[in-house]
Order: sequence, then structure tokens, then C-alpha cells
Amino acid sequence: MAIVRNLSRNLRFYVLVATILLSIALTCLLRLVTANDQVYIIHLGKFFGLMAIVYWYIVLVLSPLSKLIGKREWLRQLLFARRALGVSVAYFALVHALLAVWGQLGGLPQLGLLPSIFQLSLWYGVVALGVLLLMAAASFDGVIRWMGFGRWKWLQRLGYGAGVLAILHIWLIGVHAAVGAVAIPAGAALVVLGGLEALRIVRLLTESRQGATHA
Ligand code: HEM
Repeated sequence: MAIVRNLSRNLRFYVLVATILLSIALTCLLRLVTANDQVYIIHLGKFFGLMAIVYWYIVLVLSPLSKLIGKREWLRQLLFARRALGVSVAYFALVHALLAVWGQLGGLPQLGLLPSIFQLSLWYGVVALGVLLLMAAASFDGVIRWMGFGRWKWLQRLGYGAGVLAILHIWLIGVHAAVGAVAIPAGAALVVLGGLEALRIVRLLTESRQGATHA
């Protein structure tokens, strides 16, 4: 029992270690199967972008899911680990952006030569990444205390806006986003998330209305 308790207390740490191990494994495995250096860097960048999106989805879905099915033990653990998952999102997105700018696009001076739609998409990516990094920095207890809970909560809400910008970024230039086999399940996942959020809002509104009636 003590082992289980220790395990869950250190869950955030384990999530961060798993993120680092996963990124090392991805980097090595892809190197083994890709002979061309340029192709390797481009694919690696895309994999990091994909991991950022997958982790971000998990972070966003946990809260509305717990409202719908209740805080079961596994969900409680994942909710606790959410801050570490958020830091992982920022880490994956940062490596993705660094590989894209310096490994794929030829460095900052080249970005001005890109087509305007590509530049717009990159701006969306830059803002989304900025918010992710701020949220990651604000995931430590000391920083939350320093910011105050109200401002911290606002930053979390800004995360939803950043999510929309990241979707636009991918939609505008992502090669895989244009493939039906990726776009259809991704669209379905977004509909599920939207539905869960809508249910959560309806529940909150109903509860606050009932509270007002009883008061
Ligand atoms: C400074 C910020 C960013 C830069 C410079 C950047 C750069 C790029 C580039 C150049 C591509 C096109 C790759 C290609 O198809 O060849 C791309 C696609 C993508 N980006 Fe970003 N990105 C940034 C931020 C983000 C963020 C914040 C996320 C998610 C959290 C993200 C996730 C993705 C994904 C999933 C793709 C699609 C990959 C594919 O279609 O295979 N990016 N990004």
C-alpha cells in the first residue's frame, strides 16, 4: 500500500521521466529507419509536433471527462499528473519548433521568404508555443502562489485560445492534416472534446441555477 501511495505521490515526476525517455526513443528509432539526414530532421520535427498535440488532447479531456463519469481513482491520478503532462506538451512543442525553424526551414532569416499563408501559420504556432511555455512555467506551486490563483486561472483559460491557434497552425500547413485517414479521426476527437466541454458547461449552469433557487 505504501508503494502505491509513493508511486502516486511521484506521478508527476514519472510522467516527466517518461516524456524524456519517449523523446529519446523516438529520436533513436527514427534515426535507425531514416537514411537521409534532411528527411530525418523533418520527420522528427513532425513526430514532436504530433506528440505535443496528443498530450495536449489528454490534458484537455481529463477535466470534462471527470465531470461526466466522476473522479474514479485512475482519473484522479491522471488529474494529479496533469501539470506534468502540460509541461511535456510545452517541451514537445518547443523541440518541434526548433527542429522546424533550424532543421527544416533554414533558420530565422529564411522565414521572411516563405509564402504568406505559411508565415501566418507560423505566427499562430509562435503564439500557441508562447502560451504553452508560460503555462509550463506557471505549473510550479511557488509560481502559482506568486501569481495568485485568479491570474493563474486566467492563464489556464488562455490555453484554450492557444489550442485553437495550434489547430489553425496545423490546418494551414500540416501535410498529414490534409490526409483523410488523419483528418477524420482528428476531427472526431475534437467533436468528442467539444461535446464533453458543452456537457460540463450545461451541468455547471444547471448547478448554479439550482443553487440560486435554493438560496
Ligand atoms: C514557433 C512555433 C512553431 C513553428 C515554427 C512550427 C513549425 C511547423 C512547420 C514548419 C510545420 C510544417 C511541417 C511540414 O509539414 O513539413 C508544422 C506542422 C505542425 N506543427 Fe508546428 N510549429 C510551431 C508550433 C507548433 C505548436 C505549438 C504545435 C502543437 C502544440 C505544433 C504542432 C504541429 C503539428 C502537429 C504539425 C503537423 C505535422 C504534420 O502534418 O505532419 N506546432 N509546424
